[in-house]
Amino acid sequence: MTDTRKTAVEYARQHQSEFLDELKAIVSIPSVSSDAEHKPDMQTTADWVAAKLRALGIEKVQVMPTDGHPVVYGEWLGAPGKTTVLIYGHYDVQPVDPLELWKTGPFEPTVRGENLYARGTSDMKGQVMASLHAIEAIVKTSRLPVNVKFMIEGEEEIGSPSLAKWMAAHKDLLKADFCLNPDSGMIGAQYPTITYGLRGLAYFELRVYGPDHDLHSGVFGGVVQNPAIALAELIAGMHDADGRISLPGFYDSVRPLTAEEHENFLRLPTTAEFYKQQTGAPELHGEAGFLPVEQASARPTLDVNGMISGFTGQGQKTVLPAFAMAKISCRLVPDQDPEAVYQQMLAYLQARAPKTIRWELTKFSGAPASISELDLPGVRALAKALETIWDAPVLYKREGGSIPVVGEMQTILGIQSVLTGFGLPDDNLHAPNEKIHLPTWTKGTEALIHFFFNL
Ligand code: BES
Ligand code: MN
Repeated sequence: MTDTRKTAVEYARQHQSEFLDELKAIVSIPSVSSDAEHKPDMQTTADWVAAKLRALGIEKVQVMPTDGHPVVYGEWLGAPGKTTVLIYGHYDVQPVDPLELWKTGPFEPTVRGENLYARGTSDMKGQVMASLHAIEAIVKTSRLPVNVKFMIEGEEEIGSPSLAKWMAAHKDLLKADFCLNPDSGMIGAQYPTITYGLRGLAYFELRVYGPDHDLHSGVFGGVVQNPAIALAELIAGMHDADGRISLPGFYDSVRPLTAEEHENFLRLPTTAEFYKQQTGAPELHGEAGFLPVEQASARPTLDVNGMISGFTGQGQKTVLPAFAMAKISCRLVPDQDPEAVYQQMLAYLQARAPKTIRWELTKFSGAPASISELDLPGVRALAKALETIWDAPVLYKREGGSIPVVGEMQTILGIQSVLTGFGLPDDNLHAPNEKIHLPTWTKGTEALIHFFFNL
């Protein structure tokens, strides 16, 4: 190891407790992007990130407005002629409900065992801080060997609705050789992982109306359609017996898996047993003819994210509800188009909805899937860094989750993303008791130090 590398890694080791305190500070701010009540917290978090960048000697740090929540930008271009890395992150988090299932408050970071618990620890304030701490360790002990730019957004968890327009308006500012995106995760604590694919998303709300007010289910039950049952039947019809999605034309533009990719999937440790253990489900369930890891990352899906209708309080109430609603979303793969999927959903409902109800379909922001190139200097530098720290071969996976910015950077900025992250499958992302495994997080920071030097 060269001296500069070694002193940077030593700095990181000596500052572990300060690094943890900083992570605790940023996850204490409730930056829930979906909730208008938290708008001031979005600004506070953006300002917090900007202050941290300034403290690292990053230049031109600005909290830049968008049509939604602000983007934090900064740059250090003191290595002319060298690579420029655009470091992506998001400072927003998912809502915390159901709150009663958290063992400690979602914004009261608490260490239990080897984990730090709080919303955003893993997704992805922990990953943002690992990147910033790696930069800190280098700038405090020597000099960055490459140029860096930062783009830390506040709307990822709501589908980045304002980001494409903002990036298109700032193409020159964002010029870079590639993007480091640490918003993905690892297959397991012993498996350093690089992600090369992400699924896209198409998200809907389906509202079903029956009678014009709630009815006594004894007086009127049997003579009018129950909207809850109509909605359940519509949803049930969205899959066939083989677990395939029955929206007309849904699979037309699905890119088939290659034999080579299937071979790689067979070698990954994400077996049926892995999914059973991670989920606690009694049995697995999915599209016939595919491996579980393919079903969960490389094939499209349709899910109900929530539904509501009628009486859900304690005890019983004999009511025939006037209304039923479901949140329905599809994870997409290349080359599906979210807008086309919306049209397919409309066509399905037009063909299948009975005359006995009225329905409305709303579409929320969508994102196409993306595949990232692996034959890139950035990927090689990262793979080598991860292998140095973990002393194990890197696994290459496709992620079932979505990160809209990755595809948008390809189309708007023409740059590829190198995707990694130091979160684990049991980190409870988007769920109560989100946590980050601190020893893995620390290794991640050290790996990123090596990454910057490898470039
Ligand atoms: N970090 C996640 C995506 C992810 C999850 C990567 C698990 C690797 C492992 C990201 O913040 C996320 O949750 N994205 C949303 C995007 C959506 C709202 C458009 C998602 O996938 O649900
Ligand atoms: Mn995330």
